[in-house]
Amino acid sequence: MSKVTVVGAGNVGATVANCVAQKDIVNEVVLLDIKEGVSEGKALDMWETAPINYYGTRITGVTNNYEATKDSDVVVITSGVPRKPGMSREDLIGINAGIVKSVTESVVKYSPNAKIIIVSNPLDAMCYCAYVTAKLPASHVFGMAGVLDVARYKAFIATELNVNPKDINALLLGGHGDSMVPMPRFTSVGGIPVTELIPEARLNEIIERTKVGGGEIVKLLGTSAWYAPGAAAAAMVEAIITDAKRIMPVCAMLNGEYGHKDLYLGVPVVLGKGGVEKVVDLKLNADEQKQLDASASAVKATVENLKAMNL
Ligand code: LAC
Repeated sequence: MSKVTVVGAGNVGATVANCVAQKDIVNEVVLLDIKEGVSEGKALDMWETAPINYYGTRITGVTNNYEATKDSDVVVITSGVPRKPGMSREDLIGINAGIVKSVTESVVKYSPNAKIIIVSNPLDAMCYCAYVTAKLPASHVFGMAGVLDVARYKAFIATELNVNPKDINALLLGGHGDSMVPMPRFTSVGGIPVTELIPEARLNEIIERTKVGGGEIVKLLGTSAWYAPGAAAAAMVEAIITDAKRIMPVCAMLNGEYGHKDLYLGVPVVLGKGGVEKVVDLKLNADEQKQLDASASAVKATVENLKAMNL
């Protein structure tokens, strides 16, 4: 028996549940929300796609009933409010920190062995909040950001070169904010370094677009993205449930890696059934390290705001 819970049945949470179910890799997905009827309705609608999309994963929707989430293997927390145009992710901390704290408490009460994936923003600080609340090893509490951010970077490169996104391999480090660090030195297309294929100035434009990729969607839709964030979280769920040992960029607790300590930041990790099984510590060049340190400083400032809230 394997079970995944998704907390929050908004656009992102519902998309995570839908993507996980369609992979047909778990017995049950529980979708939980505080709004009466929303998760029940969305879960039922999804379950009715099972005979069409040929999967067997049962999807159950519940209103604030954490007992139904008992003994989940993986829990994805998407609770909180999304951005509106003109807002940064950091602006959400006042509302979302309290929500993430109370959700984490309820989750851990019923699933003390779960791997917890945080999706709520501001992502890196919300990971810290959940970690402190959960009192679990840091390998069990981590965040989805890098898989999404690097997907945007790869999608833009695929558009630019008119090639299949499957052939693009890339790395992106740092916080889930506008100071994130796409890494051209670790980006290749069919094994060819991207720097051989895209002139530096144009690649820099793609990198800048990636950094504000979330904001681009907020401007278009008036709220934040859900298809790519949902698919990204589901990919992490799959890596854990199938013990795939994938190397993915994940918001993980650093313990000296990359020169930072006691800080959640986006770095490549090995993701398997133990959660974050290993942080892959790379030697960066001076310019890369400077950019990562700037991103770390931005995350630290948000974590200080979180601590000042005395939740
Ligand atoms: C984004 C939100 C989910 O980047 O942070 O779209």
